[in-house]
Amino acid sequence: MAKLGGTAEGNFRPSKEGFFISGGVFNLLEKLKELEEETRRSIKNAKSLEDLKEVKVRALGKKGSLTAFLRSLGSVSPEERPVIGKQANILREELEQAFKLREQHLRDMQKEGQWEKERIDVTLPGRPVQLGQKHPLTMILEEIKEIFIGLGFQVAHGPDIESDYYNFEALNIPAEHPARDMQDSYYITEQYLLRTHTSPVQIRTMEQLAPKLPVRIIAPGKVFRRDDDATHSPMFHQVEGLAVDTDISFSDLKGTLLLFVREMFGSEQKIRLRPSFFPFTEPSAEVDISCIMCDGKGCRVCSDTGWLEILGAGMVHPRVLEGSGYNPREVTGFAFGMGVERIAMLKYGIGDLRLFFSNDLRFLKQFG
Ligand code: PHE
Repeated sequence: MAKLGGTAEGNFRPSKEGFFISGGVFNLLEKLKELEEETRRSIKNAKSLEDLKEVKVRALGKKGSLTAFLRSLGSVSPEERPVIGKQANILREELEQAFKLREQHLRDMQKEGQWEKERIDVTLPGRPVQLGQKHPLTMILEEIKEIFIGLGFQVAHGPDIESDYYNFEALNIPAEHPARDMQDSYYITEQYLLRTHTSPVQIRTMEQLAPKLPVRIIAPGKVFRRDDDATHSPMFHQVEGLAVDTDISFSDLKGTLLLFVREMFGSEQKIRLRPSFFPFTEPSAEVDISCIMCDGKGCRVCSDTGWLEILGAGMVHPRVLEGSGYNPREVTGFAFGMGVERIAMLKYGIGDLRLFFSNDLRFLKQFG
């Protein structure tokens, strides 16, 4: 405070108000000063908000030292009282301000302490996140789709559980037909089975679109057959292809497949079509690619033939067109069906098809 200045010797100058301070007043002022110093010291020493509160009560509370001091002014002479009173009130305000400042400071410290406690060291290296990757079959499937989408094909889907009608009948494979033996099936009921190929999507698509032209779809999906060995799994994947229009020829089929094979396996690839039989195509063909292991020279993988079979194909049988709502005298079409696992095995040089389904990370991680 020290507003009035002065020393213990009582060397006082007139105050602004213009009266002199007597010896008694001097003692009181001295006391006030002591009180101030002590309180300020305590404020400074208060290490917590609780401490500070206590200090405040001790100084400014009802029974506080400054309050007691003000009360004691009753015994001071009427001329001196305003001077001391004024100083005491000024001090009170100043102390309140000091309490406030200290309080704010302690609060800040507390907050900082909290932050310190909750601090996250962002410079610490994180725990590595295990990133997954696409399954090799997914990668191949995406590649196949991309190639055909680029040729104007759309992607169609059909159900895994298929009716006998779509899986066989509509594809010109009547009951008791020996061709049914080519695809030993999982029947659910007499009428329903796990589809043995994606060809039923041909029928479903044509039924939906007829008589609209052109039809140009691929249909990827799971198929199921009752066999299980190094090159056959009871569940595998196929991609069906179907194109129907007014003037689709066998050379369109051949050109489309050649383009696909070259995109997939390299621009030097050759294809070979061998006559074959499927009830739903006529004529039918098995399509081979020149062996990617030996460039067609002959090796163990291609059994020294120089060729690898990759798909079945043919011109859509007139009966299939007719049954699906198209007039076989006006339109023609080609169809093909390829095994996704087979293509992946050839492309990546995988010897055992079962690796795709064994969930062995040592195998899967090689395709990252
Ligand atoms: N659906 C036949 C199969 O699974 C393949 C195929 C599809 C053949 C389309 C010709 C036309 O063996």
